[in-house]
Amino acid sequence: MPEIIRAPPGLYGVGVAETSISRGAADGTLTYRGYPIRDLYDKASFEECAFLILEGHLPTRKELDDFVSRLRSLRTVPEDVYQIVRAMPRDSHPMDVLRTAVSGLGASEQMLSAKEQDYSLIAKMPTLVTNCYRILRGMDLAEPRDDMSEAENLLYVLTGRHPDAFELWAFERELILYLEHDLNVSAFTVRVVASTLADVYAACTAGLAALKGPLHGGANEAAMQMFLEIGSPERAASYLRENLAKGKKIMGFGHRVYKKVDPRAQLSKVMLKRLLEHKQADDKVYRLADELEHAMWETKKIPANLDFYAAPIFYTLGIPIETYTPIFAASRVVGWVSHYNEQLAANKLFRPDSIYVGQRDMVYVPIEKR
Ligand SMILES: CC(C)(COP(=O)(O)OP(=O)(O)OC[C@H]1O[C@@H](n2cnc3c(N)ncnc32)[C@H](O)[C@@H]1OP(=O)(O)O)[C@@H](O)C(=O)NCCC(=O)NCCS
Repeated sequence: MPEIIRAPPGLYGVGVAETSISRGAADGTLTYRGYPIRDLYDKASFEECAFLILEGHLPTRKELDDFVSRLRSLRTVPEDVYQIVRAMPRDSHPMDVLRTAVSGLGASEQMLSAKEQDYSLIAKMPTLVTNCYRILRGMDLAEPRDDMSEAENLLYVLTGRHPDAFELWAFERELILYLEHDLNVSAFTVRVVASTLADVYAACTAGLAALKGPLHGGANEAAMQMFLEIGSPERAASYLRENLAKGKKIMGFGHRVYKKVDPRAQLSKVMLKRLLEHKQADDKVYRLADELEHAMWETKKIPANLDFYAAPIFYTLGIPIETYTPIFAASRVVGWVSHYNEQLAANKLFRPDSIYVGQRDMVYVPIEKR
């Protein structure tokens, strides 16, 4: 038994797993399988990036066509999963429902091979995101459209209208940014569960549980609620001052790796501006976010993260706020599945030690004498 090493709180700065999937670095760069995010963001489709992350290389035309048609053929979710969702309280958060639905899906797909499970889960996650939300709102189930891309299908069903080409482009870009991110909390959670040899649904159910928290994926919803609460750019600086003085965390700021700049936030900020211009919409939300970002940098030197700018993009596209974190999940499931498989390829059970600080040498006292 080796001597126990005391890890820093939150495992800050500790490398706990090798990965070749993606790399977010402190200098503000991000690569998927070695490709700079900016190139993928400017040039690739969501499906191309998903294939890259899953399979490790950019697809040929044939590989991409096969991948796309395979995912489209697997989008329909079995009815028994929806029965579980219908039994849940109507005021549940969509993330709680989604997590439960993925767990239910796992129970009904145990007979599939591991590879079939991976693809089934990835293909069905966007369907579950939309239909879990629709069930909670008392709406009919939406049939997945096999003539639409992942992004178009998701956006169409969530907003109930066909997006124009630029809106679809903007939404798809955000999905690309959400696909994968190194050893973030949910990917780490997935790997811990994978290390027990549990199935991919179990691991991703745990990933969803981790993602819901406001320090992780829940931040995009929380950031949007904050923008609405602030209301105007003129109030941004005072809101920040007051809330920092109360010791509150400001949602959409800060990152464990990116201490100066989150490259995904930069890309999204430009996209938000372009989207508002395209829609000839009031740019108040952009000015508000910009004010807040500057005030935070002046005060605390903490940069905005992806969630900070993805949220107003989703809002501008007319997407319901409570689906922002589920949308994150619909994309990130690709990263989770990749981490799951990478973990299994060189598995070692994650079982750290603790540093026991509790009482010792206690003597049991019978209940009548306490
Ligand atoms: C993401 C997050 C958990 C990273 O945490 P971390 O790496 O442990 O943060 P750090 O150690 O760099 O924090 C350094 C200091 O900045 C503060 N800080 C970090 N993010 C902050 C935020 N969003 N608002 C206010 N203060 C923040 C911390 O409280 C800490 O202050 P202290 O030294 O006085 O204790 C953290 O930045 C956060 O809670 N952000 C808000 C939630 C969010 O947007 N999450 C999405 C992440 S992509």
